[in-house]
Amino acid sequence: MLPLSPITVGFMRMGQWGLNRAALRDWIGTVLDLGITSFDHADVYGDYGVEDAFGEALALQPAQRDRMQLISKVGVQRVSPGNPGVWHMHYDLSGAHILATVEASLRKLRTDRLDLLLLHRPDPLMRAEEVADAFDRLQAAGKVLHFGVSNFAASRVRALQRVLAQPLLVNQVEISLERPDAIWDGTLDSCQELGLTPMAWSPLGGGGLFRDDPARAGLRQALREVADAYGAAPDQIALAWLLAHPAGIRCVVGTGRLDRLRGAVHAQSIQLDRQNWYKLLAAAEGRQVP
Ligand SMILES: NC(=O)c1ccc[n+]([C@@H]2O[C@H](COP(=O)([O-])OP(=O)(O)OC[C@H]3O[C@@H](n4cnc5c(N)ncnc54)[C@H](OP(=O)(O)O)[C@@H]3O)[C@@H](O)[C@H]2O)c1
Repeated sequence: MLPLSPITVGFMRMGQWGLNRAALRDWIGTVLDLGITSFDHADVYGDYGVEDAFGEALALQPAQRDRMQLISKVGVQRVSPGNPGVWHMHYDLSGAHILATVEASLRKLRTDRLDLLLLHRPDPLMRAEEVADAFDRLQAAGKVLHFGVSNFAASRVRALQRVLAQPLLVNQVEISLERPDAIWDGTLDSCQELGLTPMAWSPLGGGGLFRDDPARAGLRQALREVADAYGAAPDQIALAWLLAHPAGIRCVVGTGRLDRLRGAVHAQSIQLDRQNWYKLLAAAEGRQVP
């Protein structure tokens, strides 16, 4: 089984956290002590540079590796100085690209294995048999322990799973009070049906939940009211709202601030009642359920 902490830290914004190598090593230790053990990477983050910076910090204290689950993703090909040879943005889930990217991620992260590899975005040119072959090789070599997808519709998950020897364990998708569509559109239903753990990326709308946007004033007000009722902070309530869903959502938060991460851990103990849950949904969608 793959143990993922309910709160996962995502490293997409790590470049903004202002941590040097030693500070990041200490930060990793503190975060692990908080019980946040799952770390979400992708080759593409920080112009293809974040995995390397994280790996340098990990190399300062290699024993921390066994306390964490390292997640990485493959398939997004951005035009970037860190990605030479790519002149047009595209997705690539060819077998060769999957194998080469995992090798590069392992090297940069200074690890011998990924706990979880996710196919980052659906690639219409993907040949499922090639993916199956790549997964077999990576698993046989012990380089990837578990597999999943990200931003995949249920139909694509089913089509891919048919040819894989390994179970897909995760679908990482955008879900938040800012973007609650997955509640209704079948994404979470299919996770429950197929036994996948949903991971919510941008669970705070990438910070959008807290921006002074007049169109979202009602949602911010509802978050404040529910937060007051529970003696919690609005960001904790937004996470508790996701954690309450029976699909077992894991929240991939994007902050490096330890106070906010402590708050995120606290969110796990907040049990929203049904009426407050629906009050937030109504504020998010701008309408009551019919
Ligand atoms: N699979 C995919 O396609 C995909 C796509 C996007 C992201 N992701 C993953 O999801 C992770 C999280 O994404 P995200 O960073 O957009 O998540 P997020 O947690 O929704 O947003 C993080 C942003 O919200 C801000 N924030 C948090 N709490 C706040 C508060 N109380 N008040 C004001 N601002 C607050 C943070 O600012 P501070 O830094 O100041 O705290 C940060 O800028 C990424 O790192 C990545 O691992 C995956």
